[in-house]
Amino acid sequence: MALQKSLSKLDAPKNITNNEKVLGANDFIISKTDTKGRIIYCNEIFAKMAGYPPADLVGANHNLIRHPDMPKLAFKLVWDLIQQKDEFFGFVKNLCADGGYYWVFAYITADVDTHGNIVSYTSVRRKMPQSAIDIITPIYKQLLEAEHSGGVEASQKILDELLKEHQLDYAEFIINLQLGATL
Ligand SMILES: Cc1cc2nc3c(=O)[nH]c(=O)nc-3n(C[C@H](O)[C@H](O)[C@H](O)COP(=O)(O)O)c2cc1C
Repeated sequence: MALQKSLSKLDAPKNITNNEKVLGANDFIISKTDTKGRIIYCNEIFAKMAGYPPADLVGANHNLIRHPDMPKLAFKLVWDLIQQKDEFFGFVKNLCADGGYYWVFAYITADVDTHGNIVSYTSVRRKMPQSAIDIITPIYKQLLEAEHSGGVEASQKILDELLKEHQLDYAEFIINLQLGATL
Protein backbone atom coordinates (compact mmCIF):
# COMPACT_ATOMS: atom_id res chain seq x y z
CA MET A 1 0.00 0.00 0.00
CA ALA A 2 1.40 3.42 -0.96
CA LEU A 3 1.98 5.79 1.91
CA GLN A 4 -0.14 8.91 1.60
CA LYS A 5 1.89 12.10 2.06
CA SER A 6 0.48 14.51 4.66
CA LEU A 7 -0.78 17.87 3.50
CA SER A 8 1.61 20.76 4.09
CA LYS A 9 1.79 24.49 3.47
CA LEU A 10 2.90 23.61 -0.09
CA ASP A 11 -0.60 22.22 -0.72
CA ALA A 12 -2.28 25.47 0.39
CA PRO A 13 -4.10 27.43 -2.35
CA LYS A 14 -2.10 30.12 -4.13
CA ASN A 15 -5.16 32.03 -5.39
CA ILE A 16 -6.18 34.06 -2.35
CA THR A 17 -9.72 35.44 -2.61
CA ASN A 18 -11.98 37.72 -0.61
CA ASN A 19 -14.62 35.02 -0.12
CA GLU A 20 -15.44 35.00 3.56
CA LYS A 21 -16.95 32.01 5.34
CA VAL A 22 -18.68 32.90 8.58
CA LEU A 23 -18.70 30.54 11.52
CA GLY A 24 -22.10 29.81 13.14
CA ALA A 25 -22.79 31.57 16.46
CA ASN A 26 -23.03 28.23 18.30
CA ASP A 27 -20.14 26.50 16.53
CA PHE A 28 -16.82 25.49 18.06
CA ILE A 29 -13.86 24.63 15.83
CA ILE A 30 -11.58 22.21 17.65
CA SER A 31 -8.20 20.76 16.80
CA LYS A 32 -5.36 19.09 18.61
CA THR A 33 -1.75 18.96 17.49
CA ASP A 34 1.35 17.05 18.49
CA THR A 35 4.21 19.05 20.02
CA LYS A 36 5.44 20.03 16.53
CA GLY A 37 2.10 21.52 15.42
CA ARG A 38 0.93 18.57 13.30
CA ILE A 39 -2.81 17.97 13.51
CA ILE A 40 -3.72 14.79 15.41
CA TYR A 41 -7.44 15.53 15.75
CA CYS A 42 -9.96 17.96 14.33
CA ASN A 43 -13.73 18.12 14.51
CA GLU A 44 -16.14 18.16 11.57
CA ILE A 45 -16.66 21.92 11.69
CA PHE A 46 -12.89 22.44 11.41
CA ALA A 47 -12.80 20.37 8.22
CA LYS A 48 -15.95 22.03 6.86
CA MET A 49 -14.68 25.57 7.44
CA ALA A 50 -11.17 24.83 6.11
CA GLY A 51 -12.66 22.94 3.16
CA TYR A 52 -10.58 19.73 3.34
CA PRO A 53 -11.76 16.14 3.83
CA PRO A 54 -11.32 15.38 7.58
CA ALA A 55 -9.08 12.37 6.89
CA ASP A 56 -6.65 14.55 4.89
CA LEU A 57 -6.16 16.92 7.81
CA VAL A 58 -4.82 14.42 10.32
CA GLY A 59 -1.03 14.49 9.99
CA ALA A 60 -1.04 17.86 8.24
CA ASN A 61 0.97 20.72 9.70
CA HIS A 62 -1.39 23.34 11.12
CA ASN A 63 0.24 26.00 8.95
CA LEU A 64 -1.71 24.50 6.00
CA ILE A 65 -4.44 27.00 6.89
CA ARG A 66 -2.12 29.93 7.67
CA HIS A 67 -3.40 33.02 5.90
CA PRO A 68 -0.80 35.40 4.37
CA ASP A 69 -2.58 38.37 6.03
CA MET A 70 -1.60 37.03 9.46
CA PRO A 71 1.45 38.72 11.03
CA LYS A 72 4.24 36.37 12.16
CA LEU A 73 4.00 37.95 15.61
CA ALA A 74 0.62 36.28 16.26
CA PHE A 75 2.16 32.82 15.91
CA LYS A 76 5.26 33.77 17.84
CA LEU A 77 2.93 34.72 20.70
CA VAL A 78 1.08 31.38 20.32
CA TRP A 79 4.21 29.28 20.58
CA ASP A 80 5.95 31.41 23.26
CA LEU A 81 2.88 31.13 25.50
CA ILE A 82 1.82 27.53 24.98
CA GLN A 83 5.34 26.12 25.30
CA GLN A 84 5.42 27.72 28.76
CA LYS A 85 2.00 26.09 29.51
CA ASP A 86 0.32 29.50 29.38
CA GLU A 87 -2.88 30.16 27.47
CA PHE A 88 -3.11 32.00 24.16
CA PHE A 89 -6.17 34.08 23.26
CA GLY A 90 -6.15 35.68 19.86
CA PHE A 91 -7.84 36.47 16.58
CA VAL A 92 -6.84 34.37 13.62
CA LYS A 93 -7.71 34.76 9.94
CA ASN A 94 -7.51 31.30 8.44
CA LEU A 95 -7.12 30.22 4.83
CA CYS A 96 -9.69 27.88 3.23
CA ALA A 97 -8.82 25.26 0.60
CA ASP A 98 -10.60 27.38 -2.06
CA GLY A 99 -8.50 30.47 -1.26
CA GLY A 100 -11.18 32.14 0.88
CA TYR A 101 -10.91 32.86 4.59
CA TYR A 102 -12.66 32.77 7.95
CA TRP A 103 -11.97 34.66 11.16
CA VAL A 104 -11.96 33.05 14.59
CA PHE A 105 -11.43 33.93 18.24
CA ALA A 106 -8.95 31.22 19.22
CA TYR A 107 -7.93 29.74 22.54
CA ILE A 108 -4.84 27.50 22.49
CA THR A 109 -3.31 25.64 25.39
CA ALA A 110 -0.92 22.79 26.19
CA ASP A 111 -2.12 19.33 27.26
CA VAL A 112 0.08 18.17 30.11
CA ASP A 113 0.61 14.62 31.46
CA THR A 114 0.78 13.70 35.15
CA HIS A 115 4.55 14.47 35.16
CA GLY A 116 3.95 17.98 33.81
CA ASN A 117 5.26 17.14 30.32
CA ILE A 118 3.54 18.71 27.34
CA VAL A 119 2.08 15.90 25.25
CA SER A 120 -0.04 17.85 22.76
CA TYR A 121 -1.81 21.16 22.21
CA THR A 122 -5.52 21.91 21.91
CA SER A 123 -7.28 24.82 20.27
CA VAL A 124 -10.94 25.80 20.57
CA ARG A 125 -12.28 28.60 18.38
CA ARG A 126 -15.48 30.60 18.26
CA LYS A 127 -17.06 33.17 16.02
CA MET A 128 -15.73 36.70 16.57
CA PRO A 129 -17.91 39.82 16.41
CA GLN A 130 -17.74 42.01 13.31
CA SER A 131 -16.63 44.92 15.53
CA ALA A 132 -13.49 42.93 16.48
CA ILE A 133 -12.80 41.99 12.84
CA ASP A 134 -13.06 45.68 11.88
CA ILE A 135 -10.57 46.67 14.59
CA ILE A 136 -8.05 43.84 14.22
CA THR A 137 -7.85 43.91 10.39
CA PRO A 138 -6.00 47.27 10.13
CA ILE A 139 -3.86 46.39 13.18
CA TYR A 140 -2.69 43.12 11.56
CA LYS A 141 -2.05 45.02 8.30
CA GLN A 142 0.17 47.46 10.18
CA LEU A 143 2.00 44.62 11.99
CA LEU A 144 2.54 42.76 8.72
CA GLU A 145 3.90 45.86 6.97
CA ALA A 146 6.26 46.48 9.90
CA GLU A 147 7.47 42.87 9.62
CA HIS A 148 8.26 43.31 5.92
CA SER A 149 10.80 46.02 6.74
CA GLY A 150 11.84 45.39 10.35
CA GLY A 151 10.91 41.78 11.15
CA VAL A 152 8.97 40.57 14.18
CA GLU A 153 10.84 42.99 16.45
CA ALA A 154 9.23 45.89 14.60
CA SER A 155 5.71 44.47 14.89
CA GLN A 156 6.27 43.60 18.56
CA LYS A 157 7.15 47.26 19.19
CA ILE A 158 3.92 48.43 17.55
CA LEU A 159 1.84 45.95 19.57
CA ASP A 160 3.59 46.97 22.82
CA GLU A 161 2.84 50.65 22.10
CA LEU A 162 -0.81 49.89 21.34
CA LEU A 163 -1.23 47.94 24.58
CA LYS A 164 0.52 50.68 26.55
CA GLU A 165 -1.77 53.29 25.02
CA HIS A 166 -4.83 51.28 26.15
CA GLN A 167 -3.25 50.23 29.47
CA LEU A 168 -4.12 46.59 28.88
CA ASP A 169 -2.14 43.41 28.64
CA TYR A 170 -2.41 41.36 25.45
CA ALA A 171 -5.06 38.88 26.68
CA GLU A 172 -7.23 41.66 28.17
CA PHE A 173 -7.06 43.59 24.91
CA ILE A 174 -8.20 40.55 22.90
CA ILE A 175 -10.94 39.50 25.32
CA ASN A 176 -12.33 43.05 25.45
CA LEU A 177 -12.61 43.09 21.67
CA GLN A 178 -14.25 39.66 21.69
CA LEU A 179 -16.81 41.06 24.15
CA GLY A 180 -17.60 43.82 21.66
CA ALA A 181 -15.43 46.68 22.98
CA THR A 182 -14.41 49.42 20.59
CA LEU A 183 -11.09 51.25 20.74
C1 LIG B 1 -3.25 23.67 18.75
C2 LIG B 1 -2.77 24.64 17.69
C3 LIG B 1 -3.68 25.23 16.84
C4 LIG B 1 -3.27 26.12 15.84
N1 LIG B 1 -4.21 26.66 15.04
C5 LIG B 1 -3.81 27.44 14.00
C6 LIG B 1 -4.77 27.95 13.09
O1 LIG B 1 -5.99 27.75 13.22
N2 LIG B 1 -4.30 28.70 12.07
C7 LIG B 1 -2.98 28.98 11.88
O2 LIG B 1 -2.62 29.65 10.90
N3 LIG B 1 -2.04 28.51 12.76
C8 LIG B 1 -2.45 27.77 13.81
N4 LIG B 1 -1.51 27.29 14.69
C9 LIG B 1 -0.11 27.76 14.56
C10 LIG B 1 0.68 26.95 13.56
O3 LIG B 1 1.27 25.86 14.25
C11 LIG B 1 1.82 27.81 12.93
O4 LIG B 1 2.62 28.34 13.95
C12 LIG B 1 1.28 28.97 12.07
O5 LIG B 1 0.33 28.52 11.14
C13 LIG B 1 2.40 29.71 11.34
O6 LIG B 1 3.13 28.80 10.58
P1 LIG B 1 4.47 29.19 9.81
O7 LIG B 1 5.35 29.89 10.78
O8 LIG B 1 5.03 27.89 9.34
O9 LIG B 1 4.05 30.09 8.68
C14 LIG B 1 -1.90 26.42 15.71
C15 LIG B 1 -0.96 25.83 16.57
C16 LIG B 1 -1.39 24.96 17.56
C17 LIG B 1 -0.39 24.34 18.49
